[in-house]
Amino acid sequence: MEFKIAVLPGDGIGPEIIDQAKKVIIAVGKKFKHTFIFKYGLVGAIAIDKTGNPLPAETLDLCKSSDAVLFGAIGDPKYDNNPAAKVRPEQGLLAMRKELGLYANVRPVTTFPSLIDKSPLKKEIVQGVDIMMIRELTGGIYFGKPQGRSEDGNTAYDSCVYSRYEIERVVKLACEYAMSRSKKITVVDKANVLATSRLWRETALIIGKEYKEVTMDFMFVDNAAMQLIQNPGRFDVIVTENMFGDILSDEASVLTGSLGLLPSASIGLSTSVFEPIHGSYPQAAGKNIANPLGTILSVAMMFDLAFNLKTEAEIIQSAVEKSIENDFVTEDLNRAHPKSTSDVGDWISNYIQGGPH
Ligand code: IPM
Ligand code: MG
Repeated sequence: MEFKIAVLPGDGIGPEIIDQAKKVIIAVGKKFKHTFIFKYGLVGAIAIDKTGNPLPAETLDLCKSSDAVLFGAIGDPKYDNNPAAKVRPEQGLLAMRKELGLYANVRPVTTFPSLIDKSPLKKEIVQGVDIMMIRELTGGIYFGKPQGRSEDGNTAYDSCVYSRYEIERVVKLACEYAMSRSKKITVVDKANVLATSRLWRETALIIGKEYKEVTMDFMFVDNAAMQLIQNPGRFDVIVTENMFGDILSDEASVLTGSLGLLPSASIGLSTSVFEPIHGSYPQAAGKNIANPLGTILSVAMMFDLAFNLKTEAEIIQSAVEKSIENDFVTEDLNRAHPKSTSDVGDWISNYIQGGPH
């Protein structure tokens, strides 16, 4: 089969980790006789530098005309320290989410047995954790209007807005995931305070009725933040709104030991986007030290969800597991004897092709 992939490396370590993901895609293509057409687009700080726009129209068109988008990372310290900047790299990411209708961000949080000691939590607490975190991605306080400042500049406001439809589609997706897992779902909200959260609860209850086998429970976000640390094993599928999901998914991601390991898929109305959950890690850019595994695992999600090629997805997943078992990993996972970003990419590609490793 033939697939067109939009490649958006972005900033910082983005280009290096994307190179490894691309190697892996090519290796899978050779093994399974698929053809991949890679087309590159600008996004983030590099796009601002070159075009003045963090998401140029050509990039958006490229994404829309592709079968999937492979995304690196965006962000540059020169913008982080300048709250007055008119254009910011993050605007490119948010515009892409809105324009492609990426309504659900799916982040699986699983533990690798050989890495259990890297977790900040006790082994007994984190062992066997397997959470599917589903975050609504195109609504809520990230996009609500009005947003801005009063004329005198002394007051600022953001609005959290949700429609019933926006809640329905992401809760449905979460219920579908629950059906293929242990049929348990936790809806996280702040219904004791927020009107949007009460609509979330009301809507989720109605959707829940369509999934009779799924047990749905509700939890306030502050309690969820606590339980993720105290008893992460109690969670299976979690579904929540945009801002709560942003915070909780970062919290959940460190349970497994390294942020560098976690993949994500942002499910779109037509094209979906696959990206590691970590950021652009500017201190490591160009040094060939960043962990490419989160990006490579995102490629596995791409094969599964965008191309519906399950065997290929599983092979990538098991190649990553093997590289970890063999301790063939970057410095975040092995300080004493680290491998480089490109060495890890080569090892995994060779493994997939059955070559020497
Ligand atoms: C994420 C990031 C983004 C977000 C930033 C970079 C705008 O933290 O993808 O989780 O807040 O959604
Ligand atoms: Mg975030």
